[in-house]
Amino acid sequence: MANVVVVGAQWGDEGKGKIVDWLSERADIVARFQGGHNAGHTLVIDGATYKLHALPSGVVRGDKISVIGNGVVLDPWHLVEEIAALRGQGVTITPETLLIAENTPLILPIHGELDRAREAAIGVARIGTTGRGIGPAYEDKVGRRSVRVADLADDATLELRVDRALAHHDALRRGLGLAPVDRDALLAGLREVAAEILPYAAPVWKVLNDKRKAGKRILFEGAQGALLDIDFGTYPYVTSSNVIAGQAATGTGIGPGSIDFVLGIVKAYTTRVGEGPFPTELHDADGQRLGERGHEFGTTTGRQRRCGWFDAVLVRQSCATSGIAGIALTKLDVLDGFERLRICTGYELDGERLDYLPTAADQQARVTPVYEDLEGWQESTAGARRWADLPAAAIKYVRRVEELIECPVAMLSTSPERDDTILVTDPFAD
Ligand code: GDP
Ligand code: IMO
Ligand code: MG
Repeated sequence: MANVVVVGAQWGDEGKGKIVDWLSERADIVARFQGGHNAGHTLVIDGATYKLHALPSGVVRGDKISVIGNGVVLDPWHLVEEIAALRGQGVTITPETLLIAENTPLILPIHGELDRAREAAIGVARIGTTGRGIGPAYEDKVGRRSVRVADLADDATLELRVDRALAHHDALRRGLGLAPVDRDALLAGLREVAAEILPYAAPVWKVLNDKRKAGKRILFEGAQGALLDIDFGTYPYVTSSNVIAGQAATGTGIGPGSIDFVLGIVKAYTTRVGEGPFPTELHDADGQRLGERGHEFGTTTGRQRRCGWFDAVLVRQSCATSGIAGIALTKLDVLDGFERLRICTGYELDGERLDYLPTAADQQARVTPVYEDLEGWQESTAGARRWADLPAAAIKYVRRVEELIECPVAMLSTSPERDDTILVTDPFAD
């Protein structure tokens, strides 16, 4: 199979970066198709840690083509810094290896300011965003007032685009008590950064279709997770983009028929950063233990992640909405040493049993999980590289997960290190 989409199946931070990095050896191109630098993808390769936010995880290999697709919102100043930081770690990034879609909307400083001002102002309705301007940038995209990468190439167009955006933003800012935007400073900043971004600009839809015809393999790297999807997530406690697998097509400009395999990344338990419902959240010693053993602090904001038991209902739902054909189960090693493990198999709401998460916010907040208990294991699975090295109780746990989510395990991850990975079914295999 030529083209594989990787998506998160929970609330993000499932370990997508590690798995994409591992799989990228088999791919020619790695493409991001949504989100922005709200994402934080951590790779550990021979003890060296790489933190990626806007760049695809294939970039560290140096010999792959990395693509930022039109479905992404791009902060050009952040990108310049991220490229510099990776170069500082010895990673090669050139206009031959990095392509940015010309129709990608930019995140401007005013988007971050608006994001943070809203989060500070509306105490009761806080989303707990990353404060990076993601929501406001997507609002401007659908509001048809974005500055896009291609606009950086022509000064007259750039001024027109900025004025179009400011007509809206200045009115909004007045209402929020913010000073009007300094138009000249914004334009000067954009003109300066243009020279650093334009060398990478390309008609990505065309490049990808040509490469596809030439038999090249494309790996699409999702950010966030299905429960943060703007349509299928725990709205309004979601991010502002579609993150499910269908977005790989619209977020890069390939047809949906070109997607051959969807791999869902699934953590062996559940975490969430920010506000919003979380049926299996733990506030006890087990939750604390998951957080400590799993080092559950956000890559982007450093915030502590909320932790809870594995929720099979949510992952089964994500497998359906993304058409997931196999999962990579990560962080199994974090469960080492628990006496008893719990898996949520359904919910109860007002005396009724549910096999999916209802859409209504009040119901999402009120569902109580129905648990099945499984025996834990005392042996270490950390660093296991063969299925046969796993204790029987761990294999039983994995098998039960597969049954409940109605989807097979294609890969297993047992530590942050690239090579501590067990391949069961190759997503790229014919
Ligand atoms: P992403 O956003 O989905 O790419 O995930 P993050 O990188 O934000 O968070 C996952 C964290 O878990 C990172 O620090 C990874 O290095 C780490 N990680 C990934 N897979 C494993 C695993 O199998 N075991 C352990 N212990 N850590 C892992
Ligand atoms: P990766 O790709 C976990 C969460 C934020 C917040 C909500 C909205 O590393 O898995 P936003 O800034 O997007 O408007 O915030 O979404 N969020 C993530 N949580 N992992 C992520 O990305 C996330 N990206 C956004 O915490 O609750
Ligand atoms: Mg992350």
